[in-house]
Amino acid sequence: MPVTHERAVDVGSKRTVFSRNGGDPGRVPALLVESLEFAYPDGHVALREVSLEIHQGEKVALVGPNGAGKSTLMLHLNGILSGEGEIEVAGLRVTEPNLPAIRAKVGLVFQNPDDQLFSPTVFEDVAFGPLHMGLSEDEVRDRVDWALAQVGMSDYADRLSHHLSAGEKKRISIATVLSMGPEILVLDEPSAGLDPRARRNLITLLSELPHTTLVSTHDMLMVRELLPRMVIMDEARIVADGRTKELMDDVALLEAHGLEHP
Ligand SMILES: Nc1ncnc2c1ncn2[C@@H]1O[C@H](COP(=O)(O)OP(=O)(O)O)[C@@H](O)[C@H]1O
Ligand SMILES: [Mg+2]
Repeated sequence: MPVTHERAVDVGSKRTVFSRNGGDPGRVPALLVESLEFAYPDGHVALREVSLEIHQGEKVALVGPNGAGKSTLMLHLNGILSGEGEIEVAGLRVTEPNLPAIRAKVGLVFQNPDDQLFSPTVFEDVAFGPLHMGLSEDEVRDRVDWALAQVGMSDYADRLSHHLSAGEKKRISIATVLSMGPEILVLDEPSAGLDPRARRNLITLLSELPHTTLVSTHDMLMVRELLPRMVIMDEARIVADGRTKELMDDVALLEAHGLEHP
């Protein structure tokens, strides 16, 4: 489908809230994406002219229909995928030589915990990142203890990762990135597949973490509760970016991009 005039207007009118100097002008943005373009090897264009600036401490939702390009964008933020354009994390460019530092700064939590948890025990999974940062055994242990405490899973260090429930796996997945001391948390559909209690625990956890956070989701109630800024993607483009409160009231905009008004 061609890009319609209406979409172009959405971007123009909704983006102004977060101009380049919209945050504290003295601070480096937590994340800067400029004119990112990406096509998969089969030629499918998944990102077109994607630009996004997120300031330190912001909590941002990334919403849009299946296939919009949300996961593809997220996979660029720590260099798993690499397209045309510029990405900076806390002032550091995402380039091949910077990847180890970038991967410590960007805590990317995959949608499927089985992509994140691959060690026999929870301890080993959460220790994996810090171990590869060259920290001492004591430091690694401290970081694992701290990260597990952050997600309320201190008693789980010796458990087998692949035996955990979906909600437990999600929390451990978050611990595996917290243990690296990230600048920004990037979570791909974190509440998908969780039962109501696990979802509620996850929302509480995310509300307590002080990190700059980007969350892709179809859970519009979670967006309204947790994420004051909302970025809408559709057909490989960002089509709107603004305050959640305002965009949620724009029923025509939500409907145009397959989103439900919660
Ligand atoms: N490995 C791949 N090869 C080709 N196309 C892909 C691949 N992964 C995803 N895509 C396509 O890229 C588009 C964006 O996908 P994705 O980023 O997963 O969207 P979302 O996360 O918003 O659902 C979709 O059309 C999807 O089919
Ligand atoms: Mg996805």
